[in-house]
Amino acid sequence: MMNEPPPSGENTRAVHLPPPPVPGQAPIGTPVWRTAAFSFGSSQEYADVLGDRAPGYSYSRVDNPTADAFADGVAALEGTRLSAGVTGQAFASGMAAISAVFLAFAHTGAHVVAPAAVYGGTYGLLADLLARFGVDTDFVDMTDLAQVRAAIRPQTRIVWAETLANPTMAVADLPALAEAAHEAGALLVVDSTFATPVVCRPLEHGADLVVHSATKYIGGHSDATGGVVVGRSELIAPVRAVRIETGGMLAPDEAFLLRRGLETLPLRVHRQCDTAAALAAAIAGHPAVAKVDYPGLPGHPGHEIARRLYDAGPEGTRFGAIVTITPHGGYQAGMALADGLRLIRVATSLGGTHTVVSHVASTTHRQMDAAALAAAGIDPGAVRFSIGLEDADDLIVDVTNALTAVPRTHEPEGASIPYAGDSR
Ligand SMILES: Cc1ncc(COP(=O)(O)O)c(C=O)c1O
Repeated sequence: MMNEPPPSGENTRAVHLPPPPVPGQAPIGTPVWRTAAFSFGSSQEYADVLGDRAPGYSYSRVDNPTADAFADGVAALEGTRLSAGVTGQAFASGMAAISAVFLAFAHTGAHVVAPAAVYGGTYGLLADLLARFGVDTDFVDMTDLAQVRAAIRPQTRIVWAETLANPTMAVADLPALAEAAHEAGALLVVDSTFATPVVCRPLEHGADLVVHSATKYIGGHSDATGGVVVGRSELIAPVRAVRIETGGMLAPDEAFLLRRGLETLPLRVHRQCDTAAALAAAIAGHPAVAKVDYPGLPGHPGHEIARRLYDAGPEGTRFGAIVTITPHGGYQAGMALADGLRLIRVATSLGGTHTVVSHVASTTHRQMDAAALAAAGIDPGAVRFSIGLEDADDLIVDVTNALTAVPRTHEPEGASIPYAGDSR
């Protein structure tokens, strides 16, 4: 480790992450510190570590070396081009990470501006739980800067954005949102789960904090649940304090898997993005399709912003690996499309090796009623495809066959949503 030149290419950086925090050693793999507690040479040492006056580990809800190794790795990738130090904190899930950010920076009477098209879990947290504690949220179209600016008030503490929105793939204009938030003394916090640091690094575009559901692309194999928050250390300290008090710490075994996932992240995400682009292009003109949301398509409203902000490697810009396909025919047609797939599985989550689909209105965004879905630009028939590592041609055949079999006799677009509002 001592003699290595600083890593430059993105695959090199992903493999040569900061070493796990074991003084004097540089293991290639990441040891799993599967211990809840650490012992000390003296009571004074114990008190100093607990009081953050001395480095070290005391209790794994507070800090754990494997969890740190994971969070340090994400911070290194998100902070690739930043000279100021970026640090991270690991969490038991993406939602634990997201709720810690709100608990750290919002309080009764505080105001949040969030996307109408936000991830359903974040929507539920803001619209239901945090509302009960007096945190008020305006859900707006984040692609309309005038709406964002109009919603910001003196009490606004957080402007929340998703780099690529779930499931519309709306592209956030991060520098413009950062400017609007900072003018009002608010933080811009970005959920970058869909983009990963391979596609876009929001801290380089003015964001104050970045959160990820590491359960998705970072872990990459649908076998570990976790989350992470990264940013400047003065903003991360209060987030860590909330994590310690609420107990949403990442477990060591999960941390091992998620850290290992980082090493292949660029390889997997490149491949997934390229396959997504091929599928979107192949399906866009299908007669059964009303809409394909994919920012790599030149007609997508976020295409130019993505070209400006996203990493352009030798093969050009990559636009993420989620493709949302809306068939003609509304809610039931969407269900029929998802259920008509043979290779692609109906499943929760995204970002793994398998291509999976969710009918959005009945699953990921079930917390939204018809009005909220419409405000978010989500059609009741929308089906979200998370593209995995299969061969593009096999996926295209599966989707084409399923589309061809979708009955055309369903209700008109925008018709009733049977299960919306069910928040289970
Ligand atoms: C964009 C986004 N953010 C956050 C989350 C929540 O992450 P987790 O399920 O790890 O709590 C998800 C989960 O689907 C998501 O898609």
